[in-house]
Amino acid sequence: MASTDQVPDIEQPDQKATEEEDEVTPWTVSSKSEKGINYDKLIDRFGSSKIDDALLKRIEKVTGKPVHHLLRRGIFFSHREMDLILTTVEQGKPFYLYTGRGPSSEAMHLGHLIPFIFTKWLQDTFDVPLVIQMTDDEKFLWKDLTIDEANRLAHENAKDIIACGFDIEKTFIFSDVEYISSCPDFYKYMCRIQKGVTFNQVKGIFGFTESDCIGKISFPAIQAAPSFSGAFPMIFNKKQDIQCLIPCAIDQDPYFRMTRDVAPKLGCKKPALLHSTFFPALQGAQSKMSASDPTSSIFLTDTDKQIKDKINKYAYSGGGSTVEEHKEKGGDCSVDVAFQYMKFFSEDDERLAQIEKDYTSGELLTGYLKKELIGVLQKLVGEHRERRAKVTDELVREFMTPRKLKFDYGTDQQAKK
Ligand code: TRP
Repeated sequence: MASTDQVPDIEQPDQKATEEEDEVTPWTVSSKSEKGINYDKLIDRFGSSKIDDALLKRIEKVTGKPVHHLLRRGIFFSHREMDLILTTVEQGKPFYLYTGRGPSSEAMHLGHLIPFIFTKWLQDTFDVPLVIQMTDDEKFLWKDLTIDEANRLAHENAKDIIACGFDIEKTFIFSDVEYISSCPDFYKYMCRIQKGVTFNQVKGIFGFTESDCIGKISFPAIQAAPSFSGAFPMIFNKKQDIQCLIPCAIDQDPYFRMTRDVAPKLGCKKPALLHSTFFPALQGAQSKMSASDPTSSIFLTDTDKQIKDKINKYAYSGGGSTVEEHKEKGGDCSVDVAFQYMKFFSEDDERLAQIEKDYTSGELLTGYLKKELIGVLQKLVGEHRERRAKVTDELVREFMTPRKLKFDYGTDQQAKK
């Protein structure tokens, strides 16, 4: 095994982006190209695998269901060892899902919903437990927030997550601040991870420097810990070896490269991953939607009118600059934000294909495309708003109480082995 001082070759990407390259870290996502990040290059740089047709077919075969449109349309585009998860399922062995959210703002936006919509589909399809980490500690360390404010935001954001429809019998949502102080097993995993990773390694992976506070430097161990079933003894009956699958946006991959690297040192299984692309800002795919720039984002709290105005005013158009030009040359779906959003949120494949054809040929005008998108988003946000209004503080408390879920994991006797 490689010494802990050396960053092993495998799984460690070429971290520093060169001039022309896209920048993708947990803190910055940007591209100079108007088409946005080059995701094929990112797969090469990160050393992950492309989700290809063969894998999609295998998922359909194992689940007996058509794959979700976010998979079908290449929005979840990259993975690490998803094939292993399918083999686990075929062998009748258990696995669980882990995802998370950094609660840095009161209002979540459309982009934040993507991993949760997809995770809900995974939970329904595979019928497995799900743990959701709310990293209030992370946001306290990185942002100008008090620890209590970050913790309050964790509870507020949990309401939006619950509104996505997760099953309370299969889902545990936790704030780091609260859960870590109540669960010695979680803390033991954190310590073991902290012992297995050097400053040199996190420097290489995350670009930390000597002037970063020590909280940041040790934080990756906290995001890594939920990848190990032993960190949730009440859910997994103290079993240490239940396989984990993490759906996330690709900017979170550095955390899990580190986790996969340290796992064997702990005698644990490496988590598998499914990576999504980013949800583009209204201004275009050079940057992702960001809660700190209101003109780049559609929030889950926006009114129908705000949605309409923002799309009409800000959504970058790939159409011609005049109606004549558009009719003559057609529109460019690959940079058109309204079309990209339709790809994320419209469930109707046929309609989407029709729009693509008509917009590309110039027959469909930007105004009509935007109008259709506005309808789709008003419905989606409206329904979300209604479901969120029904989420009480009591329900949040229940989701966030450490407890056994509806799954059984053998006897204590077996668990000790
Ligand atoms: N760091 C993530 C964020 O800032 C939150 C997070 C914690 C997460 N654990 C995760 C995201 C696991 C995806 C998967 O949003």
